[in-house]
Amino acid sequence: MKKPITTAEIRDAYLKFFEEKGCQIWPSSSLVPDDPSLLLTVAGMVQFKPYFLQQKKLDDKYVGTTTTQRCVRTNDIDIIGTDGRHLSFFEMLGNFSFGKYFKREMCAWAWEFSTEVLQLEKDRIYVTVFTDDDEAAQIWEETGVDKSHISRLGEDDNFWTAGATGPCGPCSEMYYDQGKEYGCGSPDCKPGCDCDRFLEYWNLVFTQFDQQEDGSRIPLEKKNIDTGMGLERVAAIMQGVQSNFDTDVLAALVDLGKQLSSLTPKELEEEQNQVSLKIIADHARAIIFMIGDGILPSNEGRGYILRRLIRRSALHGKRLGFQTPFLESYIPKIIELMGKNFPQIKENYSLIQKTLDTEESRFNRTLAHGQKYLNDKLGTLDGKNLSGKDAFTLHDTYGFPLELTQEICNEAQVTVDVESFNKLMEDQKQRARNAREDNAWEEDDNIIESLVNKHPKTEFCGYNNYDTQVRVLDIVQENQVVESA
Ligand code: SER
Repeated sequence: MKKPITTAEIRDAYLKFFEEKGCQIWPSSSLVPDDPSLLLTVAGMVQFKPYFLQQKKLDDKYVGTTTTQRCVRTNDIDIIGTDGRHLSFFEMLGNFSFGKYFKREMCAWAWEFSTEVLQLEKDRIYVTVFTDDDEAAQIWEETGVDKSHISRLGEDDNFWTAGATGPCGPCSEMYYDQGKEYGCGSPDCKPGCDCDRFLEYWNLVFTQFDQQEDGSRIPLEKKNIDTGMGLERVAAIMQGVQSNFDTDVLAALVDLGKQLSSLTPKELEEEQNQVSLKIIADHARAIIFMIGDGILPSNEGRGYILRRLIRRSALHGKRLGFQTPFLESYIPKIIELMGKNFPQIKENYSLIQKTLDTEESRFNRTLAHGQKYLNDKLGTLDGKNLSGKDAFTLHDTYGFPLELTQEICNEAQVTVDVESFNKLMEDQKQRARNAREDNAWEEDDNIIESLVNKHPKTEFCGYNNYDTQVRVLDIVQENQVVESA
């Protein structure tokens, strides 16, 4: 069998492998989850929650499903670009069983895929199991994993939950030993260590519980499987590179950044510029996929995450001397690299382009003023602390997200008084609330609300009909219900 090397080959080999085991190939779901407990799709299992809970059923002829899921996670945003492992956007290769196959089959298939399809050397594979999961440890040993390569980790590493509630369970992680030379050298270095030696590439979750809001866990009717393999990480292993940014897809995006930049090749080699190139390569995918899924920049929720990613990229773009707006230059490249599996980017090309153009232009206008303001402040600081008031002005007047101010300050070894910044933000919200209470339009809302409650429910039929008959129930003019207007 030909070893899959490129990202596209690995993706295809994975889906084909699990299809042959009886799983149905499903498309990736949107980054906007159909799940109020999550802002973004953070894992392959998100679209399958109702199946784990037995609220929906898969066609009986399949043993499960398999996907390559587009995911966004921004909890490690500060690390992105400074190491080779963390990304805000990534593809998660998954396979899922809803009560059909479980631990024994899954461990055997994971071993088969790793050693026969990927052809990884057996003595470079390590696994971890949840503290008291003797069964998983036993199964791994029987599958062929050397006993000395099996270790146990606690709740933080080896128990998986998607947010605060929902299907969850103990998990077992597979690691690839990249070699002693990448390690920290500590005698305790083993899978789970923060250094780069052991790269976690696959997480197998034995989904058996439904976590409640109070933290209690109710056993699910059936035992399930939810696995997630990091496509970019596996690509790094297969391509013999240590960093995700040196794999085919991301390296092409880093290269595009180099072409767009006005810096000299020598300048581009500087550490800080390398980090900027990687941050933009990573964020561009997250940004373009988010807008492609209908998310627009705003000041809250997922729109805020998007805005923050765009602003962060714009800032790093400035450092590289990009002509702005520049993010739209990444759209054709991403279509070329990933369009086959994710057609929505091409379909929404013009929405993505327009959104980026507007958001970047707006940010650039304020950025120049904001940066001047911040540089002046940094130049005149007494100590090593930027006041909450200055951070608030940067936010309120110049549109600087707090994290951006912190990032720039960090580089100058200055901390930001976050506590008083938060207090000023809260005061501002309160002022806005008070102002709303004084406003007539708010009362208008209340009148409408009371009328909505008074009348029977109006059925919305606009999804299926272009025209229909309706009856006017009331007319509101200047806060009053009137007979005619
Ligand atoms: N849900 C698990 C994860 O995201 C496995 O897919 O790691």
